[in-house]
Amino acid sequence: MAIPFEVKAQHVMITGASSGIGLAFAHAFAQLGANLVLVARSEQVLLNICKELNERYAINAVAIAADLSQIGASERVYTQACDLGLTPMVLVNNAGFATYGRFEQLPLDRQYDEVMLNCMAVVEMTHHALPAMIKNQQGAIINVASTAAFQPDPYMAIYGATKAFVLSFSEALWAENLDKGVRVLALCPGSTDTAFFEVVNAKEASVGKRMSAEAVVNIALNALDRNQSYVITGCLNWLLGQLYRFLPRAMTLKIAKKILSPQ
Ligand SMILES: NC(=O)c1ccc[n+]([C@@H]2O[C@H](COP(=O)([O-])OP(=O)(O)OC[C@H]3O[C@@H](n4cnc5c(N)ncnc54)[C@H](OP(=O)(O)O)[C@@H]3O)[C@@H](O)[C@H]2O)c1
Repeated sequence: MAIPFEVKAQHVMITGASSGIGLAFAHAFAQLGANLVLVARSEQVLLNICKELNERYAINAVAIAADLSQIGASERVYTQACDLGLTPMVLVNNAGFATYGRFEQLPLDRQYDEVMLNCMAVVEMTHHALPAMIKNQQGAIINVASTAAFQPDPYMAIYGATKAFVLSFSEALWAENLDKGVRVLALCPGSTDTAFFEVVNAKEASVGKRMSAEAVVNIALNALDRNQSYVITGCLNWLLGQLYRFLPRAMTLKIAKKILSPQ
């Protein structure tokens, strides 16, 4: 596992750190000696994780419980972290979820929360965190997108659109910050073995073999070290992610519909 700069005793903020990919990021950065600010809704789960990480890695991990789909939550979390002297040098915008089904049949408020968490929380956190990183000429932002970002996703229309947003947003910021000492990476995992699939509650959303969250994080940190603007996890996922470049859009869309259609 490589990382482009020393994070020992620096602060790393990870959203969605109570399980899955976020939790794997927490372990990876703790192993590197970073102090952590872990954010999710499940306060007690976060507190238990902090206790375990603090004991195991002799770091300082703190929990901030928040529902990041709510307006103003990101600002409150970021301010609280800074007030504790934990201004992040690395920000991992990982919290997110998906819905599955025909767009008009899924509850609008659930899909609204999906947009707010997957997109607006990423925008707000990044807007808060970036100025200090630029000032210090050092820092990194990892935004967790998805292979769903590379084509529209029938039956996961909002999810695919939010992840396309995250990918585009992240790549633009990667370019804007090339000479600022700040790295921005869009992490695009394929199916990963996490609670994500319990939340989405549709077997159709799981495409191909699932990778472990630890392997995904390892790929992300190596990509950050190489200063890539985005990374897709796994060769097959990478190949699928290239389809849109070579096939007509309508054909890519029909393939995506075939893969994601209700079984
Ligand atoms: N697993 C996959 O196959 C896969 C593939 C591609 C991309 N991704 C992306 O990877 C990211 C992490 O997902 P995961 O696979 O690790 O799933 P996960 O195990 O379900 O983790 C999701 C995390 O987000 C947190 N979260 C959910 N809603 C939240 C809210 N409103 N406010 C704050 N935190 C919230 C959850 O904690 P609480 O419930 O405690 O709030 C949890 O820590 C997501 O952005 C997902 O879209 C996953």
